[in-house]
Amino acid sequence: MKHDTIVVLDFGGQYAQLIARRVREQGVYSELLPWDAPEAEVMALAPKGFILSGGPASVYAPGAPQIPAYVLQSGRPVLGICYGMQALAHALGGQVAPAAAREYGLAWLEVVRANPLLPPGRHQVWMSHGDRIEALPPGFEVLGRTANSPIAAMGDLQRHYYGVQFHPEVQHTPIGGELLRRFAVHIAGARPTWTPEHMVDDIVARVRAQVGAEPVLAAVSGGVDSAVATALVHRAVGDQLRAVFVDTGLLRLGEREQVVQALQDALGVPLTVVDAQARFLERLRGVTDPEAKRRIVGETFIRVFEEAARALGQPRFLVQGTIYPDVIESRAAERPHAAKIKTHHNVGGLPDDMRFELVEPLRYLFKDEVRRLGEALGLPEELVWKQPFPGPGLAVRCLGEITPQRLETLRQADAIFRQELRAAGYLGKPRAEGPQPRVAQAFAVLLPVKAVGVMGDQRTYHEVVALRAVVTEDFMTADWARLPYDLLARAANRIVNEVPRVNRVVYDITSKPPGTIEWE
Ligand code: XMP
Repeated sequence: MKHDTIVVLDFGGQYAQLIARRVREQGVYSELLPWDAPEAEVMALAPKGFILSGGPASVYAPGAPQIPAYVLQSGRPVLGICYGMQALAHALGGQVAPAAAREYGLAWLEVVRANPLLPPGRHQVWMSHGDRIEALPPGFEVLGRTANSPIAAMGDLQRHYYGVQFHPEVQHTPIGGELLRRFAVHIAGARPTWTPEHMVDDIVARVRAQVGAEPVLAAVSGGVDSAVATALVHRAVGDQLRAVFVDTGLLRLGEREQVVQALQDALGVPLTVVDAQARFLERLRGVTDPEAKRRIVGETFIRVFEEAARALGQPRFLVQGTIYPDVIESRAAERPHAAKIKTHHNVGGLPDDMRFELVEPLRYLFKDEVRRLGEALGLPEELVWKQPFPGPGLAVRCLGEITPQRLETLRQADAIFRQELRAAGYLGKPRAEGPQPRVAQAFAVLLPVKAVGVMGDQRTYHEVVALRAVVTEDFMTADWARLPYDLLARAANRIVNEVPRVNRVVYDITSKPPGTIEWE
């Protein structure tokens, strides 16, 4: 079934992804494409309307991205946001200039003319811009203003062109969802029939068409994306699929059992569990350097996986849990050259010379949509709402030397901390009555130091556990979670009492930057 689509053209704004996501939340399917994507590719989606995102450039600067001609020639409604609004004004004969003062943060929008886009009244909006519209293009009227932007919203009600200087896609603009719904549904006439669950039939058909009767391999990591991708492909091709789960010995407590239960026992996915614990531990013996650990885990994983694939007859297709933000990110050309902080390694992140054709059933889904699909496919809530876990696993949380005993200590401490957080509603599926803000990631770290303590009148000299819990939207920056003292006290108390060889617990109060989320 084909769904009405709104195309978002990306001019490089920080929040461009969010626009597509918010439109989808209104029940209208939306895709984000680069502003200069080929016309044929964009028009193949038969967009009911276009949204132009924000962006860092100034429209009048040489070489600044402009609205492609076909967008205006299509006769479809257009909504420009921030830079998108300025590009619209520029293209249609208005005037854009640097504002006397940059406007950044909250502002009050006053709607000054009745119009189909903005609900009447005064609304809180989020601004972030340096340029502003000085003169309207012919045919446009001012729809709203703020203290610093006399033209904070404009529209040509005849041609269905609209522009807003503020960002409707961010949470700080409470009417944002309503505004996007009015644009997509009322102005562009897109039917709000879309839900992530609607993607299932479509994805199943696409996967079937791609792989035909050939065997398909899936690497299951224990995380949400690979589990949902595997469940979807299994629905599409049944036992043509073989899933492989590598037990590296670096997993959290109960993780292997959870995967076997969810995929093999509950859904009937043919799953091969490769127990490679001894091999990983052997390779990691005596290694303490973080980058060396990462490299060893990555390489060993590839070798083990290659062998498993060969044992299964070297299938031509490989399932990958790539999700929409990964696709958008890898498409964003000319990313500034970032300094290497850590070598990230993904389980399933395989080298290019491994010749598989990729099956990527989650390519068009955002993380929250993947979770919804996971639930609809019958995966357990605990798995679907799992927090992210790094590819190198506990190897980068067991600081210093990695031994089976130290890993066991870490696993137990980590399980207790996460249990307490889940019980208090900080982790797991969000509930309306739960605490805010929730924790994005939380775990225990075993430190490479020992401390003196006293237990039962005896001197102890044991290991130290650090607890880490962070609040973040995108994992690029993060703040340490202000957890209640009694929750921290309960976790610390349980850890020193229940976990052998631990006599001290500390809480990490470093934000990112300057810290990173993981310790190694
Ligand atoms: P850092 O520690 O860089 O972590 O602040 C940011 C996020 O990335 C996760 N992380 C990894 N994920 N492979 C992964 O798939 C890795 O090698 C890796 N290292 C860190 C980390 O858990 C956090 O969510």
